[in-house]
Amino acid sequence: MNLRERLRVMFFCISSVLAMTIVALAGFLPASLFAHARKPATIQAENDTGAITHHPALLLGAAWYPEQWPESRWDKDLALMEAAHITFARVGEFAWSRMEPSEGKFDFDWLEKAIDMAAQHHVAIVLGTPTAAPPAWLTQKYPDTLRIGPDGRRAQHGNRQHFSFTSPRYREFCWQIAGEMAKRFGHNPNVIGWQIDNEYAEPSYDDYTKQLFQQWLKVKYGTLANLNDRWTTAYWSQTYDNWSEIPLGGEGPNNPGLKLEFMRFISHTWADYQQNQIDAIRPYADKRQFITTNFMGFFEGFDHYVVSRALDLASWDDYVGEGQVNPDMNGLTHDLNRGFKHKNFWVMETQPGAVNWADINNFLNRGEVRAMAWQAIGHGADAVEYWQWRSALNGQEQYHGTLVGPDGTPVPFYNEVKDIGRDFAKVGGDFRDTTPVSQVALLYSYDSRWAIDFQQHTDKYDQLALLRDYYAALRKRAQSVDVVNPYSNLDAYKLVVAPDLNVLPKDMAQHLLDYVRQGGNLVLGPRSDMKDQYNALLTQRQPGYLADALGGRVEQYYALLNDVPLSGEWGNGNATIWAEQLGAANGDAQVLMRYGASNGWLDGQPAVLTHRYGKGRITYIGAILDPDLMSKAADWMVAQSGVTPAFGSVPDGVYVSRREGEGKRIFVMVNFTREEKHVELRHAMQALLAGHEESSVDLAAYGVEVFLDQR
Ligand code: GLA
Repeated sequence: MNLRERLRVMFFCISSVLAMTIVALAGFLPASLFAHARKPATIQAENDTGAITHHPALLLGAAWYPEQWPESRWDKDLALMEAAHITFARVGEFAWSRMEPSEGKFDFDWLEKAIDMAAQHHVAIVLGTPTAAPPAWLTQKYPDTLRIGPDGRRAQHGNRQHFSFTSPRYREFCWQIAGEMAKRFGHNPNVIGWQIDNEYAEPSYDDYTKQLFQQWLKVKYGTLANLNDRWTTAYWSQTYDNWSEIPLGGEGPNNPGLKLEFMRFISHTWADYQQNQIDAIRPYADKRQFITTNFMGFFEGFDHYVVSRALDLASWDDYVGEGQVNPDMNGLTHDLNRGFKHKNFWVMETQPGAVNWADINNFLNRGEVRAMAWQAIGHGADAVEYWQWRSALNGQEQYHGTLVGPDGTPVPFYNEVKDIGRDFAKVGGDFRDTTPVSQVALLYSYDSRWAIDFQQHTDKYDQLALLRDYYAALRKRAQSVDVVNPYSNLDAYKLVVAPDLNVLPKDMAQHLLDYVRQGGNLVLGPRSDMKDQYNALLTQRQPGYLADALGGRVEQYYALLNDVPLSGEWGNGNATIWAEQLGAANGDAQVLMRYGASNGWLDGQPAVLTHRYGKGRITYIGAILDPDLMSKAADWMVAQSGVTPAFGSVPDGVYVSRREGEGKRIFVMVNFTREEKHVELRHAMQALLAGHEESSVDLAAYGVEVFLDQR
């Protein structure tokens, strides 16, 4: 290890110690919320010119790989991009072997030429650091940089993401390449931002990672006695009497406390891996250059709230794969990503018709991709980028969709992108400084997601489906929903819904109770507040710290083989998959729904309780509801909390979103069906795409309109 490697390892440990100390002082915030204790990356270079290339409010992009093509071809590609109104390209994210062809020998001349040429075509650049694809010279000479899989096998060269995210040597190489790129391009007026790495995903299960995990636990728990107690290791003789005995909590069954901490450790480690590159770039980059990374939707491999913290904006890769787009699931995923930073985000990749990795790589219907692009904008995206511009002639993704074929000429889909580009150029300016504003929030927590996934209790329990069902019902009524971390400021919401917040420690409960006390409406779904921050069962029945405020509790839970009838205030329907028998303490809580005849235990018992608390209300829904009942529950939630729709009535299959700001409101209306749909507007508005005022609109199959409402 050279000096810098040693310093970085020390830094990793010291940063963990500091973070834990802060946490301890702050009164046991969960580990998933650890502040990164490294010095925040705010240093600006002295010669920061602050020059701003005022890029368009809505950007359209393509992933371009100039390193795969002769220089003589670049101008042609860029001219075709410009003709399609493409305003940015992301480059570089896998080009390490071109940027550093041999150790310590950097070559950025070609990249600078490509960036300059792009500027001539009004194509701005997002620069990817190439660290998801270390070159062969690196992995051959330093095999210790290669990742070890959960099966104990070392990754081989020839794929990507084959590095170990903790390797000090690998971090050193990442630091160097990112720093060298920033020295060269940090003031380049055509570079508008940075993407660190690409789709963080695979942890490493090597010995060094294990040592770091053990040190991390030591800092967090202080003593083994404390750890043994929190994890109840007396169970099955799991008791540890040396930190070095603690395994990585990866695959397979193990103690739930250990498994949850391992996921938090992975999150912390990815944030730290990322910070290494942010620290390398920031001192040399203009302030105007943002730093992001591209997430994968609901990927559960790390806590995205933790990893987003140091980024300037969140971005994600929106792929449908097989089948057609599900507008609810896609809208939900946009809202999840908007919630990471509580601000607009980017779609850093999306599919140009088809992918190459699904079981059946069908092409999306004509117009469907355009509908997806506008849905993204409506939900707060400021950019949409297609992966990729042109098929690489060889390499693993030869069959993937593109805008330009291997022959270098546009494929039919190119024209759909061109239409999107034309419209972005036409109306983009109206979107500047606007963002969605919601009255309803859904709470999403990685701790709870992991805790339930470790012990589903029924393999039919699908957290994302439950979240999507709540989301779809609520979004249909409110037409705008935020998806946020439970610790977020909730003051602005009329209604806050937590479909299954399983890990709900005391400080989180206090935060939620404050919200309710001040007049908020909190609705909890099944499995709520069962676990503390160590993934241990609470010694109060569910919903643990919230049971007193609810005036009731869960008596017993049941995984269902068959549906159970439900009836009450919301009419009749069924509980599916999961049902909890509730009990109202001293008749405090009002029973809204009861179970019908079932397993004997549930018969006639409460299924939904509600109770006024402070100036607000807390409601517990102990079952997964069938779709019809979910609609009725959503009607009740919305009416009871005074939520109003962002727009107003639209036919089924039409999705409307609202962005606000600068004294104006913009509605994006997308028809996700293949039939024409007629929509009446509340009052006449300027239809920006059509270019005139309208009081109603006929949306063609996959049709889109954008309305400016200045009233
Ligand atoms: C991911 C990657 C891209 C590309 C696409 C293909 O999103 O980031 O490099 O492989 O998938 O769909």
